[in-house]
Amino acid sequence: MDETHSYDIVGNIAIIEVPEGADEKLMANEIMKNKNIITVVKKLSAREGVFRTRQLEVVAGKQNLETIHTEHGMKYKLDVGKVYFSPREGEERQKIADKIRNDETVLVMFAGIGAYAIAITKKKPQSKVYAVEINSDAYEYMRTNIRLNRVDALVYPLKGDVRIVCKGMDGKFDRVVMPYPAGAHEFLDIAIGCLKKNGFIHFYTISKEGEEDAGKELLGKEANKLGRKTVNVESRKVLPYAPRMWKRCVEAQIV
Ligand SMILES: C[S@@+](CC[C@H](N)C(=O)[O-])C[C@H]1O[C@@H](n2cnc3c(N)ncnc32)[C@H](O)[C@@H]1O
Repeated sequence: MDETHSYDIVGNIAIIEVPEGADEKLMANEIMKNKNIITVVKKLSAREGVFRTRQLEVVAGKQNLETIHTEHGMKYKLDVGKVYFSPREGEERQKIADKIRNDETVLVMFAGIGAYAIAITKKKPQSKVYAVEINSDAYEYMRTNIRLNRVDALVYPLKGDVRIVCKGMDGKFDRVVMPYPAGAHEFLDIAIGCLKKNGFIHFYTISKEGEEDAGKELLGKEANKLGRKTVNVESRKVLPYAPRMWKRCVEAQIV
């Protein structure tokens, strides 16, 4: 068996999943041969709750869960136990940043430590991004990361529940990004309301194999309820979520 078979690296921390019967110390020691890794933690739970964090335990190296992760030249400081962050989504962030026209006003709901918002403004410096996050720890890291990446003038961090924070933002945005696959569907009414006529939405959702169109249909229904319509709708696979389940991104214009 390959004892190092699959793990994520966030900054200088390796996050491992220990298969039943595997020797976690052996796995950790193999990984620690990489001199860039100073801590190995194992997952004790799946992602849980509104914050989408998981329980972790240090199995080797320094007792420290805070690190700085580098992605496409940007730096993200975070505590892997207190906030959501996935290094696997780096390419997806670039994909979204590529789609943005320079001078758009963008709302990133569920902004976490600010990785989508910062990636967008780094690539499209004439855009303005409002980034809303409910987890106080993630929000504080987002503020730190905005400074670290020198985009203070372009990203406006907002703390709280999007349902409350985005009240009164009707028709203000060219684009809304909803990177919360497990829960974004509950906030489509707010997101659609925030969009200008012909604005763009990126709605992340989870779909089972054979039900790939469910996200498109839900978005269409929610738009209709608000007297609006989806056009140019696409749904693409982003990453695997669980056996026969995928994170997908449903993209559309709302007229
Ligand atoms: C799956 S994580 C994604 C974080 C970030 N977008 C990223 O990709 O790194 C979802 C985030 O949404 C936040 N969240 C959940 N419900 C929220 C709400 N009602 N209002 C604002 N943020 C919320 C969570 O705290 C969490 O940080």
